[in-house]
Amino acid sequence: MSLFLQVTSDNSLSAPAFGPTNYVHPTAVLDQPVELGHGCKIWHFCHISVGAVLGSDCVLGQNVYVGKGVRLGARVKVQNNVSLYSGVTLDDDVFIGPSVVFTNVKYPRAFIDQSQEFAPTRVQRGATIGANATINCGVTLGEYCFVGSGAVVVEDVPAFALVVGNPARVVGRVDTAGHPQKDESPPCATIKMLDLARENAPIAEQLKRAVDQVITSGNYVLGPEVEGLEVACAAYLDVPHAVGVSTGSDALLMALSAVGVGPGDEVITSPFSFIAGVEAILRLGAVPRFVDISPRTYHVDVDAVLSCVTARTKAFVPVHLFGQAVDLSAVRNKLKTLGIAIVEDAAQAFGAQGDTGPVGRGGALACFSFFPSKNLGGFGDGGLVTTSDIDHATRVRQLRQHGAERKYRHVQLGGNFRLDAVQAALLAIKLRRLPQLLAIRRSHAQAYRSYLGAWAWEADELQLPAEGPYGHTYNQFVIATSKRDQLMEHLRRQGIETAIYYPEPLHVQPVLGRYALAQGSLPQSELASKRVLALPVHPALTPSAIQRVAEEILRFFGRNPGR
Ligand SMILES: Cc1ncc(COP(=O)(O)O)c(C=O)c1O
Repeated sequence: MSLFLQVTSDNSLSAPAFGPTNYVHPTAVLDQPVELGHGCKIWHFCHISVGAVLGSDCVLGQNVYVGKGVRLGARVKVQNNVSLYSGVTLDDDVFIGPSVVFTNVKYPRAFIDQSQEFAPTRVQRGATIGANATINCGVTLGEYCFVGSGAVVVEDVPAFALVVGNPARVVGRVDTAGHPQKDESPPCATIKMLDLARENAPIAEQLKRAVDQVITSGNYVLGPEVEGLEVACAAYLDVPHAVGVSTGSDALLMALSAVGVGPGDEVITSPFSFIAGVEAILRLGAVPRFVDISPRTYHVDVDAVLSCVTARTKAFVPVHLFGQAVDLSAVRNKLKTLGIAIVEDAAQAFGAQGDTGPVGRGGALACFSFFPSKNLGGFGDGGLVTTSDIDHATRVRQLRQHGAERKYRHVQLGGNFRLDAVQAALLAIKLRRLPQLLAIRRSHAQAYRSYLGAWAWEADELQLPAEGPYGHTYNQFVIATSKRDQLMEHLRRQGIETAIYYPEPLHVQPVLGRYALAQGSLPQSELASKRVLALPVHPALTPSAIQRVAEEILRFFGRNPGR
């Protein structure tokens, strides 16, 4: 006699609409109603609870429990002695090895009914869980991931990751067939927004030697190392003067001070940026005047700047956001005629080109940041002010040293805004590599464009970053979508980090006090804050990582990356 019982609609065990090709062993119990697709096999002593749904061609080994409302996709295989409690979802093609344990509450107590606290667990398409593994409730196991036998999974597993141990850790990657991959990336499936250790690994020895030299030189603040960096930066940026300072934020404070911004003056700037420029304006007692951005570039709308000028306007701070220069050609001469100084916030744009050549000489002064995530990222904080004007340069040199024209002779209100020698020595080494690092950023951006730009997108579905006539350095690769938060969550679950620059525009920040504007007053900046998403683009990423990010974005939007 066949071991299989063919289940038909008159099966005495249950009366759901089973397909004629399903087989249920006589010892199995199927509560009513449950839904089975075609071709399922349910072996000895299984128990399928009310409301469970099994897709076609599923196989449940002996003694498998399927809780109330549990959903299994098509072709799922569950080996002997597994309990799939309520809240567990297995997508198509998932394989669950023998005696795998799914927990259903985080903090079980025998004497408290916690059925209301069941945390959902999702095992995505094609994933495999080895024998005797334990899956804590509330996690998501990404597509085609591989959980080794006996692993204890306590957090989300990225797609295609191989995880082992207790607690389970990513140790490698597998392909869709489950074979381990020899990838150029280290055994870590997370794609990070920043990986500085990896970025700097090729020059690690040079960097260590430079630190040694500074230590033995005994000169730790300003001095020859800082002077050397200033000369190298001035040459790279093709600008007469470069002054090394403590941070990009302090650079802005000093540059605005150098052009004479003071109490009651108005300074025009962008509401869609990092706070540092506005902080500097407020610190000097001046008033920030915000002009809304262009939705294409996220840059301040330069055409609208002139209409915002008043008799009190002293300066304009354009922000070369995300590594692309603001095109200032339409306003530069007019502002000059009006006696309004341009102080460029170039914190994110070291190495970018503008309408007058390299960013750094398109206004009265330009301010750069060496914060580690920037194009020329240091090993701590640092900044730079550049200018073509010797008087501005002299003022900034004084301001960074307590406003001193010589030692202990203080002619203006400055502060301690000096750059350390060790930082300068390290940055000088990194500067030599900058063209190569920027080329990698550009090629990553180009790869994103070819993967994502090959598809047609609705206006608010997906917007790729605009690239103007002077190019882009892609300090950030920022896309925009009306489904931003859902996309971000999808990518997070696949082990892909992203970031939002910036979740709230500046004109509504509480620190502005009476200068804050009402919500709705600068609609493009407010919309951008809800839609933008920065993708990983740093130079330590491999081309396969960029491909993986792009494919996940396509999958999220229902496009087939492999078409
Ligand atoms: C646009 C912009 N301006 C200014 C700064 C300030 O630079 P720092 O962090 O070196 O003070 C940053 C840094 O994030 C920035 O992104």
